[in-house]
Amino acid sequence: MSMNISHYGGAFALWDRTDGLVLSKADSLEAIAAYLERNPGMSFVCLSGERVVGTVMCGHDGRRGYLYHLAVDEEFRGLGIGRLLAASSLERLGEAGIERCFLMVLEDNEGGAEFWSRAGWERRSGILLFSKDPETAVDGTKEEEHAECT
Ligand SMILES: CC(C)(COP(=O)(O)OP(=O)(O)OC[C@H]1O[C@@H](n2cnc3c(N)ncnc32)[C@H](O)[C@@H]1OP(=O)(O)O)[C@@H](O)C(=O)NCCC(=O)NCCS
Repeated sequence: MSMNISHYGGAFALWDRTDGLVLSKADSLEAIAAYLERNPGMSFVCLSGERVVGTVMCGHDGRRGYLYHLAVDEEFRGLGIGRLLAASSLERLGEAGIERCFLMVLEDNEGGAEFWSRAGWERRSGILLFSKDPETAVDGTKEEEHAECT
């Protein structure tokens, strides 16, 4: 079913006990609520009773889609839940006119990489991932360098 913010506690607990996922400030209650509001109907949970046993977070920027936090509780693995969750989000992206979706897998997460390959996702090479936090963007840069850019 679609993920809503009432699933946050169960989802966070699952992420926290799942190897292969990295949590950050972007996983706070407020941040996840904002993400779900910005990308309605794109993220999914799998429930066993009221317990969250599977999640996938999905959104897009109008050009490309991104998947995060695909996780299935250990005792529920191998039942096709992971594949179904990922497919559900991908279907929503397609409906929104998004033609390609990306996701990140930690280099040492061999099980995760194998899952995506078996689910038909192309493993990309020749691309390096860079990141920078906006709050540090101007640190260490001289004022005249900024002036040249304006
Ligand atoms: C990756 C994960 C979500 C898979 O969930 P799942 O519900 O067990 O996956 P499914 O049952 O839908 O499996 C789909 C296919 O992937 C294969 N697969 C799943 N996990 C695998 C693993 N660790 N190693 C090898 N193959 C795997 C299954 O055998 C199946 O293949 P098949 O369709 O050819 O039989 C789950 O193992 C998990 O939560 N892992 C920890 C978190 C993680 O690594 N998330 C992804 C990183 S971005």
